[in-house]
Amino acid sequence: MAKPKTLYSCTECGGQAPKWQGQCAQCGAWNTLVETLAAPAAARFESVAGARSTVTPLSSVTPRATSRIATGLEEFDRVLGNGLVAGGVILLGGDPGIGKSTLLLQAGAALGALHRTLYVTGEESAEQIALRAQRLGLVNAPIELLAEVQLEAIIAAINATAPEIVVIDSIQTTYTEALASAPGSVAQVRECAAQLTRLAKQRGVVVIFVGHVTKEGAIAGPRVLEHIVDTVLYFEGDPHSSFRLVRAIKNRFGAANELGVFAMTERGLRGVSNPSALFLSQHAEGVAGSAVVATLEGSRPLLVEVQALVDPVQGGMPRRLAVGLDSQRLALLLAVLHRHGGVDTSGFDVFVNAVGGVRILEPAADLAVMLAVCSSLKNSPLPKKSLIFGEVGLAGEVRPVQRGQERIREAAKLGFETFVIPNMNKPKQRVDKVDIVGVDRVDEAIAWLRR
Ligand code: TYD
Ligand code: MG
Repeated sequence: MAKPKTLYSCTECGGQAPKWQGQCAQCGAWNTLVETLAAPAAARFESVAGARSTVTPLSSVTPRATSRIATGLEEFDRVLGNGLVAGGVILLGGDPGIGKSTLLLQAGAALGALHRTLYVTGEESAEQIALRAQRLGLVNAPIELLAEVQLEAIIAAINATAPEIVVIDSIQTTYTEALASAPGSVAQVRECAAQLTRLAKQRGVVVIFVGHVTKEGAIAGPRVLEHIVDTVLYFEGDPHSSFRLVRAIKNRFGAANELGVFAMTERGLRGVSNPSALFLSQHAEGVAGSAVVATLEGSRPLLVEVQALVDPVQGGMPRRLAVGLDSQRLALLLAVLHRHGGVDTSGFDVFVNAVGGVRILEPAADLAVMLAVCSSLKNSPLPKKSLIFGEVGLAGEVRPVQRGQERIREAAKLGFETFVIPNMNKPKQRVDKVDIVGVDRVDEAIAWLRR
């Protein structure tokens, strides 16, 4: 068989060149040319139906009812948007060793009972997978294994055994002979994923890719696949804690930013159904520099403790460091605190941390960060059982956040009693046993702290 022709195309502008060169002749970008298959070989790009496409009014299109396939892991189903969808392509990215293979082996074992599941392993041998299964107590799990890295062989196996769910662990080890570049390169990863995605849509099988995030900016990592797949999940977690978060970054079949919480145990991953309790550290007495914020992760509010440490500068420039929060935003909040709150931190190092290895992406944590900083600076704890949320603007205003009532309800359920929140989020009716302080400006919140 003649080898398909390859050429080089620019990842920035799409410009093409017959040979590799350092700079793209079209847009002038450096090191952006990657090997690609010469397009358009009709067979590679034919539409899913195989027929010529026609123009149709939207109203005449009846969507197929998507039935969900539950994975048996409740937290995993939650991030997926109630389970897998036939023909859906999922990318599970994350650092090496975080637990991707473990999660998919557990899910595969549960799925295998009702849906034929093929686990393609390119990173580990079948024996290593069996060893893991033993550790997880899943030796007799109804799951099929294929230790293979060559794309053509994988596709042949899928066509031959017709599984409903296929796990590719990992996409970086998969390679096609049609391309000369090494496995793991952008060209290989992209081409293999594209072909498997096409197969998934044609056959209606669920394909789950495992992708490693590389430390060096994820060149050949999952990033290049994010637009190809239907769902992008990232596995995160502090390697030193046993908690693992699976976050949906993109989901064509459900809500993005949904969060699944797991604990890594001796016998695999266990879902954590009440994650709020987990991110609150247990202080018997109130400690200075600690504030609890109600953030919203996907469909579920999550209470997280934000800690600040404000310490006099030991010579040189004051340092600002944020772990689990945005460092740039911290600098901004300190400026607002100075200008509109009259609290000067210029002679101090400021460190803030979100407890439990959680990452807070939304600005609703602003006010809590500010009050934690003030509390550490004055070395006086916030009142016990107080909860804070609210976005802070550059003019010193406290803006409302979305779905404030849900955050309040979750915190009230967990026994919080004093709420410092944006005035506009203040509930119309009184909430039992709860004291709500609505603020419009940063200085009002600081005045509450000093009262
Ligand atoms: P793994 O799933 O191999 O990670 P990935 O596929 O993302 O590279 O998980 C590796 C880590 O998980 C490893 O450090 C051991 C730990 N682990 C447990 O703590 N308990 C278990 O039951 C299993 C299977 C793994
Ligand atoms: Mg693995």
